[in-house]
Amino acid sequence: MKLQTFFSTILLFFTTIFLLLSLSHSVSANQSNHTGFLQCLSLRLNDSNIVSKVIHTPNDSSFSSVLSLTIQNPRFSSPGTPKPVLILTPVQPSHVQSAVKCARRFGIHIRTRSGGHDYEGLSYATHKPFVILDLTNLRSITVDVDNRSVWVQTGATIGELYYELGKMNKTLTFPAGVCPTVGVGGHFSGGGYGTLLRKHGLAADHVIDARVVDARGRVLERREMGEDFFWAIRGGGGSSFCVVLSWKIGLVDVPSTVTVFNVTEFEEQSALKIIHRWQFVSDRVSDDLFVRVMLQRYKNMVRASFPGLYLGSVKSLLELVNREFPELGLEEKDCKEMSWIESVVWFAELGDVPIDNLGKRARASLAFKAKSDFVQEPIPETAISNMWRRLQAPEAEHAQLIFTPFGGRMSEIGEYETPFPHREGNMYEIQYLNYWRGGGEEKEKYMRWVERVYDEMSEFVASSPRGAYINLRDLDLGIYVGGKRSKYEEGKSWGVKYFKNNFERLVRVKTSVDPFDFFCDEQSIPPFSSVEVM
Ligand SMILES: Cc1cc2nc3c(=O)[nH]c(=O)nc-3n(C[C@H](O)[C@H](O)[C@H](O)COP(=O)(O)OP(=O)(O)OC[C@H]3O[C@@H](n4cnc5c(N)ncnc54)[C@H](O)[C@@H]3O)c2cc1C
Ligand SMILES: *[C@@H]1O[C@H](CO)[C@@H](O)[C@H](O)[C@H]1NC(C)=O
Ligand SMILES: *[C@@H]1O[C@H](CO)[C@@H](O)[C@H](O)[C@H]1NC(C)=O
Ligand SMILES: *[C@@H]1O[C@H](CO)[C@@H](O)[C@H](O)[C@H]1NC(C)=O
Ligand SMILES: *[C@@H]1O[C@H](CO)[C@@H](O)[C@H](O)[C@H]1NC(C)=O
Ligand SMILES: *[C@@H]1O[C@H](CO)[C@@H](O)[C@H](O)[C@H]1NC(C)=O
Ligand SMILES: *[C@@H]1O[C@H](CO)[C@@H](O)[C@H](O)[C@H]1NC(C)=O
Ligand SMILES: *[C@@H]1O[C@H](CO)[C@@H](O)[C@H](O)[C@H]1NC(C)=O
Repeated sequence: MKLQTFFSTILLFFTTIFLLLSLSHSVSANQSNHTGFLQCLSLRLNDSNIVSKVIHTPNDSSFSSVLSLTIQNPRFSSPGTPKPVLILTPVQPSHVQSAVKCARRFGIHIRTRSGGHDYEGLSYATHKPFVILDLTNLRSITVDVDNRSVWVQTGATIGELYYELGKMNKTLTFPAGVCPTVGVGGHFSGGGYGTLLRKHGLAADHVIDARVVDARGRVLERREMGEDFFWAIRGGGGSSFCVVLSWKIGLVDVPSTVTVFNVTEFEEQSALKIIHRWQFVSDRVSDDLFVRVMLQRYKNMVRASFPGLYLGSVKSLLELVNREFPELGLEEKDCKEMSWIESVVWFAELGDVPIDNLGKRARASLAFKAKSDFVQEPIPETAISNMWRRLQAPEAEHAQLIFTPFGGRMSEIGEYETPFPHREGNMYEIQYLNYWRGGGEEKEKYMRWVERVYDEMSEFVASSPRGAYINLRDLDLGIYVGGKRSKYEEGKSWGVKYFKNNFERLVRVKTSVDPFDFFCDEQSIPPFSSVEVM
């Protein structure tokens, strides 16, 4: 053999090896390689103490308790619910970056969980192999009272946030949801509202900056991510775009004394009259007043209740209600003055407990299914009467219908200012909820009850498109099945219900910040495929 031939054979040999290696690398990068992922992450964490704090494998005794810690819908905690391959509980923001970088490299699918309140369990359960990135350890809250702003990490709950603010200053707070265990990660990124929505709008309307980890594992703040990306995560749902590490939020003023009340009506005809009138008042009256309608059973009787918050004293509340809404029949004995932070405890129905209970973590015991609608014209009494009748069904023992008034600040913010499009013209939102004990086969009849009421309401609510609120996620609206239609075409069918015309802009943002669809779930915003771009 000539020397030259010998060298070229050697060269060919190494070239082949190299090609094979790089080929096997690209294949393994495509198929999910959990061993590789674990090695990659352990290397980056670079400390066995940290590794054992952050990485939980099914072999660890902590695995099932970490998993169930924030499962807020027991419909997704049965033995049949798919479990994650791993759970990661980062203790530093850099661990989130490492998780994203290693996950991309080894083809791992990640679900981000903050408070675990997703209505369809998408933050902790899905059918393909997945890893949960649970942010529960990243929950610091840094308040800058002078600047009326706060940096809050996304593992914090809104209860913890309210408490931190309330103990510092009784007249400075933040407008977000009613249930204290809701996480700021999912809640703010999907909109988020509670008793201050008529006065101050959504939680997302008060986000002034954010720190996120993008699909390339970079930490970006508003300045670096750009205004489109920043727009998308304030109502478009965080799970399609990035992992939000923390939010900077602007605070709002509340008076030192507010008034809460709760009027209950058991008699159907009287209740129908109040609700009918409520439709003409609740979204137009002074934005200092928030009155909800709740329909539910008490023992075997259906009842209507009208819990409310007024940003002022009992005296001025009674004057206002007697003038604008006398049908409510509000009396002084139904009312109680307190500080705003105490009203949060009252609305959360925690009983007569100190405000530090707002920071307590609790798990839900009843499984549930819900759907939502927006109402743009008053609905006829017959429709309300029909809901009343449906609540008498045996499977509606724990059902709830909740009407939340809009108007006020909600109507002043344009439909395109944030991804949440249900602004002016929407009088109120209805949420149809049913709860039941245990999971099992029984669940079908409870879920069917919700579907049926929802179907019967179709002619009375916003249509073309029929609206829905992303934070009350509903997989009946559609999920990706991967048939002939492109992901864009599939996603559009429920995307326009959640986001109306903002869907297209969300798709454009998605295409530019996460073209390979690393952050995805059953209903995430799709990127345009290369075909659609051309
Ligand atoms: C009991 C209860 C009461 C509620 N009350 C209200 C209410 O009063 N007002 C209201 O508006 N809504 C309310 N909600 C709905 C709630 O706003 C949404 O379920 C919200 O998405 C929950 O956020 P989370 O972080 O707790 O949930 P998670 O299940 O952790 O997350 C929800 C979604 O957001 C994604 N996500 C979570 N954290 C991040 C992050 N850091 N970065 C990127 N994506 C993230 C998840 O992947 C998932 O897709 C309530 C829900 C429940 C169960
Ligand atoms: C690799 O990924 C590409 C793009 O996501 C996909 O089209 C291809 O089918 C994948 N190949 C394998 C072997 O998974
Ligand atoms: C997984 O990744 C590791 C580390 O890079 C590698 O050694 C291993 O061969 C990979 N496994 C597969 C099946 O690709
Ligand atoms: C890993 O840990 C060692 C020992 O604690 C330290 O010297 C080294 O700088 C660390 N490496 C990285 C990349 O953090
Ligand atoms: C769990 O333990 C089994 C048996 O000891 C071992 O084979 C497996 O690799 C472990 N899995 C993980 C993810 O550590
Ligand atoms: C207060 O917040 C504003 C708006 O975010 C910012 O421009 C300003 O620098 C902050 N001031 C201080 C003292 O932090
Ligand atoms: C609370 O904040 C308000 C508004 O910034 C301020 O006027 C008030 O003095 C503060 N109260 C206390 C007790 O710090
Ligand atoms: C209002 O009263 C109803 C009926 O008695 C009750 O179910 C509900 O929990 C009360 N709401 C609040 C916020 O206390």
